[in-house]
Amino acid sequence: MYFMDLGSFGSKGKKESKTKYKQKKRYKMRELMRKEIPTPKEIMNYLNERVIGQYEAKKRLSVAVYNHYKRVMSNVYDIGNDGDFKDVEIDKSNVMLMGGTGTGKTFLIRSIAKMLGVPCHIHDCTKLTAAGYVGEDVENVLTGLLQAADFDVEKAEMGIVCLDEIDKLAKKGENISITRDVSGECVQQELLKIVEGDVVRVMPQGKRKDPRVPMISINTTNILFIAMGAFVGLDEIVAERTQTKTKQIGFNRDQYVEDKEDSNMLHNVTSTDLKKFGIIPELIGRFPVITSTNPLNKEELIRIIKEPNNSILKQYQKLAYIDRKKLEFTDDAIDIVAEIAVVTETGARGLRNILETILNDFMFDSCDSRKRKLVVDREYCLKSLDNTLDRGTKEKLKEALAA
Ligand SMILES: Nc1ncnc2c1ncn2[C@@H]1O[C@H](COP(=O)(O)OP(=O)(O)OP(=O)(O)O)[C@@H](O)[C@H]1O
Ligand SMILES: [Mg+2]
Repeated sequence: MYFMDLGSFGSKGKKESKTKYKQKKRYKMRELMRKEIPTPKEIMNYLNERVIGQYEAKKRLSVAVYNHYKRVMSNVYDIGNDGDFKDVEIDKSNVMLMGGTGTGKTFLIRSIAKMLGVPCHIHDCTKLTAAGYVGEDVENVLTGLLQAADFDVEKAEMGIVCLDEIDKLAKKGENISITRDVSGECVQQELLKIVEGDVVRVMPQGKRKDPRVPMISINTTNILFIAMGAFVGLDEIVAERTQTKTKQIGFNRDQYVEDKEDSNMLHNVTSTDLKKFGIIPELIGRFPVITSTNPLNKEELIRIIKEPNNSILKQYQKLAYIDRKKLEFTDDAIDIVAEIAVVTETGARGLRNILETILNDFMFDSCDSRKRKLVVDREYCLKSLDNTLDRGTKEKLKEALAA
């Protein structure tokens, strides 16, 4: 698989007569677009090689990204603006990606950015505060993108910005601190103009505005924004709505139970649910593509431990190899590691911590010991984790392993 370089599309050739240049460019760009913008299926295939599971999210993202870059081509190189479609402007397809911790949200976006060869910046929204408060200005999200593009403004203007932890900006109920509420809501308001598509002036180093430092203008029209977060509690809002609805239309209780157990509640999120959660309607409206990742099950976690080229197991095996040692895990040991990640609800993010604990003694002695090989089996796993797992987790694990 080759890496395309969408970022270099922006560079202009030598000067020619304006119309000739435009014509040639339009022709070239249409050709390039056909060849260079990966189709949704190509994006999906690329993601399938790296991201385990998450079929729905991968499919939604593949289409959203494809449409986004078609829109960029249309805006920048005047493609498709003829005949009946001369005055038709394609709206932005910013994405809202929801899902629990360690389910692959950030990993998905990083993988897409890598495939497209566009700069990608992931910004932690919890650090943002409204203008005038101590903290970061919202414009900093663009400074980060500019840095990811090595200060090439044209490249940055076609990049991807992830607004991570956007759910932490939600307005809260009456009994939560008012100051934090106001701040979160104001940040949401301030994000609107950036997300919508506007020329925003940013400080190159991401500091607070200073009249002595020249600012850089960035047009955000062609930047793809992806808002991400765990949205803890949103599933309950959806469940409540579904329950009320089913009750209203007279389904019996069994039907409701079936619906609730059926799938990930986040698949059924509507803008009304997000509003109830505390996201302002104007912001919701600017993220028309809503999708979510599922909690990873044991089989998927086992595949994540073993399969990817850069899998976590291979990383520890490489560390051992550098010390000229061999490290192996039996299948039932991997089974336990995956089961603990399920029980503790830490997703793939928890795997590293579990493996780190299991292998701590081995890695501590590695340089001095003459032992050439370690085979981690079920007993070794349970013994090395004995002190770190709390009683609740141990009991749940026992139940799961007995099942
Ligand atoms: N579905 C998956 N397939 C393969 N690897 C995965 C998957 N999900 C997570 N991982 C691995 O786990 C790591 C952590 O996942 P990631 O950072 O994407 O989690 P997240 O959903 O963004 O969680 P958080 O909400 O805590 O930020 C990734 O770097 C990746 O190596
Ligand atoms: Mg993340």
